[in-house]
Amino acid sequence: MRKKQMKKRIAVLTGGGDCPGLNMALKAVSEYAMNHYGWEVIGVRNGLNGIVGDNSIINRDNAEFIDINIELPFNTFVRQGGTFLGAHRKIKKKSYSKVKNDEDLASVMLPAFKKNIKDLNIDGIISTGGDGSMFLMNFLCERAKIPFIGIPKTIDNDTPATEISIGFSSAVDACVNAMDNIFWTAKSHHRAICVEVMGRNTGHLAMHSGVASCADVILIPEIPYTIANIVKKLKSVMKTEQRDYFIIVVAEGAGAEKGKSLPKTYKSVAEYISDKLFDAGIEARADVLGYLQRGGLPNGYDRMLAAELGVMAVDLMAEGYTAYIMGMKDGKPTKIPLKSVCKKETRALDLNSPIVKTAEKLGIYIGEVKKK
Ligand code: F6P
Repeated sequence: MRKKQMKKRIAVLTGGGDCPGLNMALKAVSEYAMNHYGWEVIGVRNGLNGIVGDNSIINRDNAEFIDINIELPFNTFVRQGGTFLGAHRKIKKKSYSKVKNDEDLASVMLPAFKKNIKDLNIDGIISTGGDGSMFLMNFLCERAKIPFIGIPKTIDNDTPATEISIGFSSAVDACVNAMDNIFWTAKSHHRAICVEVMGRNTGHLAMHSGVASCADVILIPEIPYTIANIVKKLKSVMKTEQRDYFIIVVAEGAGAEKGKSLPKTYKSVAEYISDKLFDAGIEARADVLGYLQRGGLPNGYDRMLAAELGVMAVDLMAEGYTAYIMGMKDGKPTKIPLKSVCKKETRALDLNSPIVKTAEKLGIYIGEVKKK
């Protein structure tokens, strides 16, 4: 057990999957906490896996806990993708594998968590995360009676109660860059290329990257579509623009036509759509973008957002708040009670948002939008 320090000591970690911008959040939290408030900072490796890990080894390559100090090369880290602390979604310990839901999981994690907090004299936790990992962290902190502040991150942009999460903007850039490359093959070979982007069961990433890439069709989980109307759209472009190459953006959660689930024979929505288009006589191919959307470098916006949310999360903790996230509302960093993040479903794309309206006005086929 570490000797009780006089200074406040917080732990920082990156919960859930990686995304661009996490290193800037870690830098902002750590440097501001150390330099402005004079706190000590402990970095937890591998997200929630690390927080319940072994605390007997510290500061080694295989240690789950490291001392953060101003000599760490933060100015190099912030330019890199991923998270220098490492990420982990599933808890590795065998005894945790049978739990049924997040609440059970959190209860099973509690003893190891409490031990680490006590042994390392941690007075509070600031963690980036999506709705799931922030729920778990808050559950643990509440029971261990230490403050918790979350910072939303996800390329899906589906965290409830915040308008934008760290990582989304860089992921949109990555999708647009990929589609700019794919465009040339579509054009050279006179093909329709169905590009599948991530987003879980929401269409934020597909809609934003699709509009920015001048896609002809954008399919998202929030709006059902029909193959017949995709074909109709492509045929009308052939006629009016004399163009025989197309970019079709599909969200990974878009499913099959008319809101049905994807047939088991298909591993991706892109494959399903391209097969159906092929059957309708259109030269089509599928391309699933995968992790290149998530693992890339953070763009300027994500770094700026991560820096702002990071320092404000530290201020919130200093002011004595707990169970809050530092998110964005009306374009401004805002403190939001964590319960409004964890209780709701993930945040679907608002069909009245400017990006959806713009797609419609540009004549992009986005599915069978209900007319009011
Ligand atoms: O939540 C981010 C995300 O990249 C989703 O878009 C995707 O569905 C999922 O994570 C993939 O998760 P994993 O890292 O477990 O493959």
